[in-house]
Amino acid sequence: MCGIVGAVAQRNVVPILIEGLKRLEYRGYDSAGVAVIDQACCLARTRSVGKVRELEGRLDAHMEGATGIAHTRWATHGRPATENAHPHICRKTVALVHNGIIENHEALRRAQMQLGYEFTSQTDTEVIVHEIYRRLEETADLLAAVRAALPSLRGAYALGVITNREPGRLVAARRGSPLVIGIGIGEHFIASDVAALLPVTQRFMFLEDGDIADITRDAVTVYDAQGARVERPVRHSELSADAVARGEYRHYMLKEINEQPRAIADTLENRIGVDQVYAEAFGPAAAGLFADIEAVQIVACGTSYHAGLVGRYWFEGLANLPCAAEVASEFRYRKPRVAPHTLFVTLSQSGETADTLAALAYARELGFARTLTICNAPESSLVRGSDLVLMTHAGPEIGVASTKAFTTQLVALLLLVTALGRSRGLTAEGEARIVHLLRSLPGQIEQILGLDTAVQAWVPFFTNKQHALFLGRGTQYPVAMEGALKLKEISYIHAEAYPAGELKHGPLALVDADMPVVAVAPNNTLLEKLQSNLQEVRARGGELFVFADSDNDIHEDPRTHVISVPPVDDLMAPIVYAVLLQLLAYHVAVSRGADVDQPRNLAKSVTVE
Ligand code: G6P
Repeated sequence: MCGIVGAVAQRNVVPILIEGLKRLEYRGYDSAGVAVIDQACCLARTRSVGKVRELEGRLDAHMEGATGIAHTRWATHGRPATENAHPHICRKTVALVHNGIIENHEALRRAQMQLGYEFTSQTDTEVIVHEIYRRLEETADLLAAVRAALPSLRGAYALGVITNREPGRLVAARRGSPLVIGIGIGEHFIASDVAALLPVTQRFMFLEDGDIADITRDAVTVYDAQGARVERPVRHSELSADAVARGEYRHYMLKEINEQPRAIADTLENRIGVDQVYAEAFGPAAAGLFADIEAVQIVACGTSYHAGLVGRYWFEGLANLPCAAEVASEFRYRKPRVAPHTLFVTLSQSGETADTLAALAYARELGFARTLTICNAPESSLVRGSDLVLMTHAGPEIGVASTKAFTTQLVALLLLVTALGRSRGLTAEGEARIVHLLRSLPGQIEQILGLDTAVQAWVPFFTNKQHALFLGRGTQYPVAMEGALKLKEISYIHAEAYPAGELKHGPLALVDADMPVVAVAPNNTLLEKLQSNLQEVRARGGELFVFADSDNDIHEDPRTHVISVPPVDDLMAPIVYAVLLQLLAYHVAVSRGADVDQPRNLAKSVTVE
């Protein structure tokens, strides 16, 4: 969480920093700030509570400088307030932006107060800037000062530091939080994510954990955790600045929902042949490694976890492999028993989720046979830390509520299930069937997006509600969970999902006229059971909203609303029906005037525990 941008150039960097912040706002938007070294060689700073546009509104038109740093915050220590916004400054000399959490900040704060340092915020960050200032007084060299200060910090950080004593210099460091350097011509940049810098460069250097970078207009010098000078490769990003623009859409979320046919097609490209999944899709070593796998453990957070839950049904049902799926924040703190030859699979849009990364590190200690990540962010920490990688090609996802990342994760999971299932009873015909279904999926989703108007017609039934219940069975149960998550995160309506068979064990007590009940009812072996569950709701005066296969026998009545969905194979149904629930959540949130792309208290990429 929190987004960092920095620049050293010959031109005024304020507009670059502000544009960068706007592109990083998905990482946090409680407050924002910018600091530059101005023409008088002083640190000039502006900070504001709220979004980057509030900051922009407060900027003095004369604020200019060729070296600067900026930050958009997702509050952890210290409430969202101007004094807690970054950059933090020590004695008008050192300015710093930070993403991460300093765990020993209280002890450092006490020690620094005794040394006479004044604190102006409640953040864990402020101790870092004082620590660096203290070392700068001793060394008169910003790089040496940062290097000397870092060992006293416990926790995670990505940092950008400047001082008016060395105006053309920016020092950056990372441990546990992402940071990338943008390579320009006669100018250099830092950011939490390449997306922030796409308007100014497409060439990037990814820092490794423990790296410190000394950055000037003309040079970038990187030192590793041991202090040795190292070369980090410069990579060319395929992303264009437009890929992260909202275009004609009112919200990123709507754009991303509509991008799903293309995102799925891109994720399938070069991974499937006429009748088969290419084993090379998982890397050259994959085929050999897969042969030994006897079980799968999936770990993820949020929406990615829901994709993992669907995956569990597929691994067991299609690939004949025992599979467990668990949220990373739980997995990392328990003592799981690891069966031999278990593949550890992480799912993540960002590849930087702190709990998922910690779970991956823990998995190594626990002795899992292999690790594989299904991830949407190339060069992310998960990608770099896993033995095998299957990228989802969803393109940048900016809306905080995940949509296309979820459906492409499901597609990637099906590719993996198929590749692993081959030696475990999945026949060539079975594989060909999956491949054909996948190939027709983008077209099918396109058709489903055509139901948007029908979904919108349901919105008035939800706008003023406080609660909603989502029901599904089998693979549709995690889809119902995802639908409930989407609704609560962007519309703030309390929503829960239940496997429909569990209704009678509690949730039925909640059913009344004020509790809309959404059900996903594709045509499958559990349909009849689901229909009985829906009767239980009806009999108790509940109002039903059912997404039903058009072949199904679910009829409209004054308290049963049905959207008829074109028939879809059961295997593809979780992907197809998820899109409908995304649309429902989106339109309900818009009708309530909610900030769809940046819901309160949330952030897209949770890089702190
Ligand atoms: C946050 C986001 C969710 C996302 C989750 C996991 O909570 O708001 O949309 O599903 O993190 O993120 P990841 O990047 O690991 O998929």
